[in-house]
Amino acid sequence: MFDFANQPPVIQVDQLNHHFGSGDSKTQALFENKLNVRPGEIVIMTGPSGSGKTTLLTLIGTLRTVQEGSLKILGQELNGMSQLGLTEIRKNIGFIFQAHNLFGSLTAFQNVKMATELVGLKGSTVKPKIEQMLTRLGLGERIHYKPKSLSGGQKQRVAIARGLIHSPRIVLADEPTAALDEESGREAVTLLREMADRDGCTVLIVTHDNRILDVADRIINMVAGHIKNDSDVKQTEKICAFLQATEIFAELTPRTLTDVANNVEVRQFKGDEAVFHQGEEGREFFVVTSGNVAIVRTDAATGKQQTVNQLGVGSYFGEVALIENQPRNATVVATEPTTCYVLDREEFRSVIDTSDSFESELRKAMFERN
Ligand SMILES: Nc1ncnc2c1ncn2[C@@H]1O[C@H](COP(=O)(O)OP(=O)(O)OP(=O)(O)O)[C@@H](O)[C@H]1O
Ligand SMILES: [Mg+2]
Repeated sequence: MFDFANQPPVIQVDQLNHHFGSGDSKTQALFENKLNVRPGEIVIMTGPSGSGKTTLLTLIGTLRTVQEGSLKILGQELNGMSQLGLTEIRKNIGFIFQAHNLFGSLTAFQNVKMATELVGLKGSTVKPKIEQMLTRLGLGERIHYKPKSLSGGQKQRVAIARGLIHSPRIVLADEPTAALDEESGREAVTLLREMADRDGCTVLIVTHDNRILDVADRIINMVAGHIKNDSDVKQTEKICAFLQATEIFAELTPRTLTDVANNVEVRQFKGDEAVFHQGEEGREFFVVTSGNVAIVRTDAATGKQQTVNQLGVGSYFGEVALIENQPRNATVVATEPTTCYVLDREEFRSVIDTSDSFESELRKAMFERN
């Protein structure tokens, strides 16, 4: 299996903005996007229509000019790159776009062969390779058919073969399985998974097809021109499992729980390090996932400090200041190396708004702690 964890990213997006139109009709389609994808990773991108997925994908694919921010492909900055440079980069990319744009006068085989010629792939192995791939995608009987004699799904499969035939280092796919039945959709993503695992090919798929989500190493969500969260799927699952086992989060619906898991930040504290201080503004909510913290209160009149509570794994703190909009009523100190999941104020509020059980648990706990 390809070990991608220690490789530098092949797609690096940083502070990327994009506008369409000019003057009064100028509108911004992408806002400050950041994304890193490593060799061998498959990333699925979802999000509402018009949120900017195709715009981002075409920028990454060098099919659009980078206007603002940084976009590096295979370590090379696209912002300001010459057309010649972009053409060279493009040879490393395979495109599977929904509008298949096959040449009507060419057969399935010839359409795929053209993609090999464009990147200068020659030799006796090309022909069997094309035949093999078309067969694999269920088109063995249709290799010499022209697009007009193929169904929508079959044309889409030719487009997939065409996008992958030159063994690109990066595959960009926009709804590649939308026109496919379950079986051929599965075959297509299995092919992508193999290329990722075997060759370290990087795959970015825009899709609403929830039948193929399991192929992803990560799922990212685009909302209103911005990558909302870029969470490691396994990490999210781990966080969900942890939260579900705690009293306070146990009653949340899977949807809200996933939302929370997508938005928590994992933060580490050294022994004796303060998480926050009494009197500070409350901006975050904490769940202890390992270690231990002490809640220390300072008497305003005497200045005397007293440890009022110790909290271990699965406990939470920081809610009082958030709910009552008041300064922190105590200092919290890690008593040993400690890890917490941290939720910011807005996210914390939105969980309260969606879950009565969460709020009533919190109020109960606040009452008991007073
Ligand atoms: N060529 C263009 N000229 C002007 N505006 C455009 C152009 N292409 C896209 N837009 C706008 O940019 C925004 C993002 O569009 P984009 O096609 O990236 O969305 P998307 O997430 O791919 O949507 P869908 O899921 O419907 O394919 C939309 O508001 C769209 O209207
Ligand atoms: Mg689109």
